[in-house]
Order: sequence, then structure tokens, then C-alpha cells
Amino acid sequence: MRYITFALAKGRLAKKTMSLLEEIGIFCEEMKDENTRKLIFTNEKLGLRFFLAKASDVPTYVEYGAADIGVVGKDTILEEGRKLYEVLDLGFGRCRMCVAGPKEAKELLMHKALIRVGSKYPAIAKDYFYHKKHQTVEIIKLNGSVELAPIVGLSEVIVDIVETGSTLKENGLEVLETICECSARMVVNEVSMKMEQERITKIITDLKALITERQA
Ligand code: PRP
Repeated sequence: MRYITFALAKGRLAKKTMSLLEEIGIFCEEMKDENTRKLIFTNEKLGLRFFLAKASDVPTYVEYGAADIGVVGKDTILEEGRKLYEVLDLGFGRCRMCVAGPKEAKELLMHKALIRVGSKYPAIAKDYFYHKKHQTVEIIKLNGSVELAPIVGLSEVIVDIVETGSTLKENGLEVLETICECSARMVVNEVSMKMEQERITKIITDLKALITERQA
């Protein structure tokens, strides 16, 4: 039996994914060891392999078929723009992709001013401002703690994910516009979907049933 390989975004999403998978009989004992430096884990009996990757690399592994299935946030899927099938909303890791800044920046947005936008998500920011809002902006790519940018004057606004809203609040910033809702999604390689249709469809169907049952 060929292995079905899962690429999981390391961290909280991976942990939640593994506990969801456990409920449909998919598990990996090796992965529970918190101290391991191993990168790839196997369940020989089920013919499954799992690896943890940086979130932004998960769509890449899946597009190239190095992983058959991936679990990663919608934010990362949109930003990476890879060719793959998005098959399921897992319902956790919910957050919103937003334009945020000090409330004075609302005015600048309204007048379509030539503003600077700091973001870890330059592709999403570009798509939103150029294609949806038809507003010319300067996008500045950042790698973290993006909320700093409007505070220290690097940019007028930011495009970032907001979960509880406390990072914005504690820094005197607010949501100015909502771009989209995000959550953890299951993605599948396009060739794997055909070659391993039966096994992959079963995983999707079982997860779907579990999620629907929980929401009821
Ligand atoms: C994310 C995001 C916000 C924060 C939002 O950052 O970029 O900064 O979480 O969460 P909240 O609305 O619940 O406050 P992350 O923790 O990934 O760190 P980073 O900015 O350094 O990448």
C-alpha cells in the first residue's frame, strides 16, 4: 500500500488536526513525543505519513505532490496561491483578514489616498487594494509584529489576521475593513485526488461527518 502523506502547519493547527483525525481513527503515536526532533512520522499499519512544516511551505509541498494532503490556514492558502484542491473547512483556527490601523486612517482609506500598507501577506494586500478596491498603495512586506508599522510610522495601515483583537486594542489600533474570514482548511494535491481517490475521499467524508455532527 502506498503511503498517504500529510503536511501539517506546525504549532497549534497541527495539534488540533491530529486530535480531529484521531476521532476518525487516524492517529500517529510517534508524533506525541514533545521532545522529538524527528521531522517525519509514520503509521505503518494505516499506510500514513505525517510531517510538520512551516505554514507557508505547506501549499508548496502539496502542489508538488510531496504531500498528498495538507492542513493550513486559509490566509496562507490565499497568500501562496498554489495549484491545489481546497476540500474542507475544518472549523478551527478562525480569524479575520483585516485592514487595520489608527482610526484616523479611515479617512485615508475613504479618499483612496496613496498610503503604505505593512503586511506579512503582500499578495492578499495587493489583490485587495488593486483588484477589489482599485486603490493604488505601496505594499511593504514585513515578517511579524506587523502592528508596529503604523505605530512607528512605517505605514499608515496594515493587512493582518485578527483573532481576539487584543493585539490591535493594546496598541491603539482597530479593524478598519474586513477582507475575508479565515480558518484551517484541508487541501489535496490534484494528482493524488485522482490516484488515491478512494482513500482520500474516505478521509474527507469521515471528517465532514464529524464536523457536521459537532456543529449540530
Ligand atoms: C498574529 C497576527 C496578530 C495576532 C492577532 O500574530 O499577526 O499579530 O496574531 O491575534 P489577536 O487578534 O488574538 O491579538 P502572531 O502571533 O502569529 O505573531 P507575529 O505577528 O509575530 O507573526
